[in-house]
Amino acid sequence: MKVIAAYNIKGGVGKTATAVNIAYLAASEGYRVLLWDLDPQAAASFLFRVRPKVKGGGKALIAGKRPVDDAIKATDFDNLDLLPADFTYRNLDLHLDGERKPATRLRSLLTPLRREYDLVMLDCPPSISLLSENVLHAADLLLVPLIPTTLSVRTLDQLTEFVAGFGGNQPKILAFFSMLDRRKHLHRQIVDELPATRDDVASAAIPALSAIERMSLQRAPITAVAPRSRAAKCYRELWTEAMKSIIV
Ligand SMILES: Nc1ncnc2c1ncn2[C@@H]1O[C@H](COP(=O)(O)OP(=O)(O)OP(=O)(O)O)[C@@H](O)[C@H]1O
Ligand SMILES: [Mg+2]
Repeated sequence: MKVIAAYNIKGGVGKTATAVNIAYLAASEGYRVLLWDLDPQAAASFLFRVRPKVKGGGKALIAGKRPVDDAIKATDFDNLDLLPADFTYRNLDLHLDGERKPATRLRSLLTPLRREYDLVMLDCPPSISLLSENVLHAADLLLVPLIPTTLSVRTLDQLTEFVAGFGGNQPKILAFFSMLDRRKHLHRQIVDELPATRDDVASAAIPALSAIERMSLQRAPITAVAPRSRAAKCYRELWTEAMKSIIV
């Protein structure tokens, strides 16, 4: 079982759009996939039409009072299950902190799922917190959407430094340009120059496309509803690259 986290310290950069599409693409290829919506905003749960509710809330889940299995819901898609968000996830850090091993709790919760799933996709809330440390311990790969602006590149630097200095499991990082708009000079400049300075930027990029924005109306991954679209093609390229980087 591999674990990929759609992660960025920054908000609104395309983490959820990535998580739902990568999860769908992997499932459509026959991998048994679990998408865990870790964000109390519950956007991924909404996109898969699953009620954002976990009995007993995040507290029971983290404390192990409720098996993770019990909270898992099926989606409308074969091979793709969802562990929904719950509004109580806003207190996840607090609950994690109450555990004996606070930083590796998420990893232990995923361990019993190894036989059931080939891939766990984590849709993370924007932050750098105890939950993020848990994500680092649990993940094989951080898939990091990067809007091509100076401040976003700075945030990627911060994240890379944080992972490099992390005393524990160090997931690989695959950053990729998200919401790319080639009409913008700054976007073109960063896209043309950044990959030469770092080796963790994917060749695949996700352009700013209204078809991706409209996923919230259709409530399904664009890769499922419009597999021939440009958006779907770009997500497939990203998935291929992500998969290559975790299968050694
Ligand atoms: N490539 C894209 N082109 C156009 N719109 C996009 C693209 N990717 C995401 N969006 C839209 O931008 C908004 C933010 O995207 P998304 O929810 O995926 O980001 P996020 O990083 O998960 O945000 P948050 O930090 O709040 O969880 C959403 O309305 C989404 O539909
Ligand atoms: Mg999100």
